[in-house]
Amino acid sequence: MGTPQSGIFGEGASFHHFLEYDVSGPQKDAAAAVQAALGVAAASKVNVVVAFGPALWNALRPGAGPDELRPFASIDGDVHSAPATQRDLFVWVHGDAHDDVLDTALDIHRAVASVGTLALDERGFVYHDLRDMTGFIDGTANPKGDDRATAALVPEGRAGAGGAYVLTQKWVHDLDSFRALSVREQERVIGRTKPDSVELTGDAMPPDSHVSRTDVKVDGVAYKMYRRSAPIGTVSEHGLYFLAFACDPIRFDVSLQRMFGTSGDGVHDRLIEFSKPVTGAYWFAPSREDLAAI
Ligand code: HEM
Repeated sequence: MGTPQSGIFGEGASFHHFLEYDVSGPQKDAAAAVQAALGVAAASKVNVVVAFGPALWNALRPGAGPDELRPFASIDGDVHSAPATQRDLFVWVHGDAHDDVLDTALDIHRAVASVGTLALDERGFVYHDLRDMTGFIDGTANPKGDDRATAALVPEGRAGAGGAYVLTQKWVHDLDSFRALSVREQERVIGRTKPDSVELTGDAMPPDSHVSRTDVKVDGVAYKMYRRSAPIGTVSEHGLYFLAFACDPIRFDVSLQRMFGTSGDGVHDRLIEFSKPVTGAYWFAPSREDLAAI
């Protein structure tokens, strides 16, 4: 199997930088810019993960796969919707020092600026003890150890093996309305307790909680994904840059349909009453071998 980009699994960073680009111009120029960015990544002391939208990846590596790579399509629920803002190049820089992360993000930007138009430029951070800005611990049910690779990577024998499908969405929270709820009610929105992230059980777990909508099993297979989201923002706007890796994008589709009330059971995730996505894109984070072959 191809070797995954190690930054996907590098945990514990305190600082994140997320960059999304539209890429235009001759394909050889795009390939050269991507190679330059990969050179920056290889020399950097912080983690860098590079992923591609379908159009750019298919231009750079025609026929290489993976088979299920396609642009993000907007989801239009009855009340809430998830917009599609598909772009061409995604770069995630993360590490322990703000200055090193920013230096690397700036170097990457210089490498791709001749072909890439910066469309998203967000800094992510650790909020208290790994909480989302709603105040709930984010990542409790994330796969651990070897289960991370099983959830995140295209398996051996498939086109693009060792790479990962990626979903990114910038979510903007309405913290005033969330905080207006009692803690007990907030816990019913998420499906876990607030202080210590214990999953609600039995009658205490609402069917429209976030955990009820995203803890999905299809034909006996648990649709796990590996989440690497980070809180983002300032006083005027804040939320979550949702970032997840999966072996098959159907896992993203099913969770999103269940969240936005378009899965056919008439239920939507209560969390979307307090936060809304303002971007949405699918990407492919190729294995190191596939990157080297560009
Ligand atoms: C505003 C955006 C979001 C926030 C604040 C948020 C927050 C959380 C929190 C607090 C948990 C419970 C603790 C944990 O297990 O991590 C959780 C679980 C989870 N979330 Fe989200 N999330 C958001 C969006 C999404 C999206 C867009 C997806 C998928 C497309 C997703 C998928 C999941 C999954 C798979 C779990 C674990 C469910 C389980 O197996 O128990 N989340 N999220």
